[in-house]
Amino acid sequence: MRFDVVTLFPDMFGTVRDLGVTGRAHAQGLWSLRAWNPRDYTHDVHRTVDDRPYGGGPGMVMMAAPLEAAVAAAQSDRAAQGFGVAPVVLLSPTGRRYDQQGAQSLAGGEGVILICGRYEGIDQRFIDRCVTDEISLGDFVLSGGEIAALAVIDAAVRLVPGVLNDGDSALQDSFNDTLSGLLDSPHYTRPEVYDGESVPPELLSGHHANIARWRREQSLSLTAQRRPDLLERARANGWLTRADEKFLAALAAAG
Ligand SMILES: C[S@@+](CC[C@H](N)C(=O)[O-])C[C@H]1O[C@@H](n2cnc3c(N)ncnc32)[C@H](O)[C@@H]1O
Repeated sequence: MRFDVVTLFPDMFGTVRDLGVTGRAHAQGLWSLRAWNPRDYTHDVHRTVDDRPYGGGPGMVMMAAPLEAAVAAAQSDRAAQGFGVAPVVLLSPTGRRYDQQGAQSLAGGEGVILICGRYEGIDQRFIDRCVTDEISLGDFVLSGGEIAALAVIDAAVRLVPGVLNDGDSALQDSFNDTLSGLLDSPHYTRPEVYDGESVPPELLSGHHANIARWRREQSLSLTAQRRPDLLERARANGWLTRADEKFLAALAAAG
């Protein structure tokens, strides 16, 4: 899998390329990254990539031409490496919300070209001509698309087979289908007693079925409390067992 990122701040991508789980996977060749700076595709002495907005108003707008040239360079470099034509994904607060399903579908593909906006945004003609998809990180406005792109890459790369040490660990994470799309249960490590607070006894029992049931009930109860929408989705998909429903009914009755 390969990500190409069109960005005015290529250095920001060292964090995902060089550090932690994604850094190790990059060193192992499980994914690759190349950054393309639109300033390298300008033709004036100031390497101008932005200009004032037509119609007035505050801020600057990124110009179409340097972005389109950067995307063309990324596509032809990918083609030279044997990749097919890549989707071009703009990070934008007006896009579709990124979620675990989105990460999963990216992880199963060859990768994409990510476009990081800055300033007030990007000339719409570039978006109309080149962008195939728009992704938002959430209902808030960042100063630029780079932090959103880093999150998109990180969430997808950790789902690529072989990236996580313990192959099962992604399966136990929140939102995963194998956890019925529920929230994860709480975790504990040593010491057994921390400042007078003990680890829940179920986790110390060594009884695998009881531990699994305790974790499931913690997930159900946390999801019911914080994300009832995820619980409804699990129910609609037939992912809740009779034992789950019994536990939830008791939880609701207890108020
Ligand atoms: C200051 S923002 C522009 C916001 C734009 N004027 C608006 O109100 O929708 C600059 C850039 O940051 C990125 N960005 C900001 N918030 C984002 C979010 N929630 N998700 C993804 N990208 C975001 C986009 O690439 C955007 O072009």
